[in-house]
Amino acid sequence: MNVFLFGISGKMGCAVVSRAKESGICITGGYDITPSKDIPTFNDIKQVNVPFDAVIDFSRPETLDAVIALAESRNCPVVLCTTGYDAKALAKIEKLAKKVPVFKSGNMSVGMNVLISLAEQATKLLWDDSDVEIIEAHHNRKVDAPSGTAKMIADAVNKASGDKANFVYGREGTDCKRKKNDLGIHAIRGGTIVGEHEVMFCMNDETVTIKHSALSRNIFADGALKAAEFLIGKSPAVYDMKDMLK
Ligand SMILES: NC(=O)c1ccc[n+]([C@@H]2O[C@H](COP(=O)([O-])OP(=O)(O)OC[C@H]3O[C@@H](n4cnc5c(N)ncnc54)[C@H](O)[C@@H]3O)[C@@H](O)[C@H]2O)c1
Repeated sequence: MNVFLFGISGKMGCAVVSRAKESGICITGGYDITPSKDIPTFNDIKQVNVPFDAVIDFSRPETLDAVIALAESRNCPVVLCTTGYDAKALAKIEKLAKKVPVFKSGNMSVGMNVLISLAEQATKLLWDDSDVEIIEAHHNRKVDAPSGTAKMIADAVNKASGDKANFVYGREGTDCKRKKNDLGIHAIRGGTIVGEHEVMFCMNDETVTIKHSALSRNIFADGALKAAEFLIGKSPAVYDMKDMLK
């Protein structure tokens, strides 16, 4: 498989290049403001002249138009791993998925998807009798907050609660008493933390905590490469980790 990589010079881009090498996958080109040392890098998709079977994107929401234009011009699948898309961007992604297969996940790790499944089960059992809070921690260079993964967990908890959750992002002030059905979401930023997420179900005299720690970026890189392989030959639609792990 040949892959074109958006964000090739970033932290995740470098992890994908290194993991691809180990799995015999060829990264034939990339898109970035900063060129890669050994792989042709472009800043204008009209100049892209390398072969590829799939696109992987670990960059910023601002590159979405370029990702879409390239995927449409080559009619090839796209794995979107970038986080922080707004509603307008999400609508563009839905439109793209009518033409080519699109894999989109705010977290490409298998373990995180197990956490989400456990959080859904715990919510069904405990929502009415507990206060649920989500806490995430990431490195000090992350620009979006809360993380795309925390949003995924919050959406899954909300759905499992029967759409009862009222999202509360952090707390400050003198009128912050918790209300029934509040779902607290908190972001910690510091150092080189790769990614920590926990969901707390706080009850009278006991707390159940479900926690996932990413110990290296390789788990996301491996997930993205697997997703690209999974998409080859699929029909146009939006796919996620649940589809791949079935
Ligand atoms: N889905 C997942 O599992 C997962 C895991 C980790 C990170 N992420 C997301 O992936 C994205 C990248 O993360 P990172 O840690 O590698 O960030 P990073 O800042 O290290 O890398 C981003 C790269 O994109 C390039 N870039 C940014 N804007 C650009 C533009 N307009 N045109 C061309 N290139 C541009 C930068 O030069 C940089 O090389 C973030 O959105 C992050 O939240 C997702």
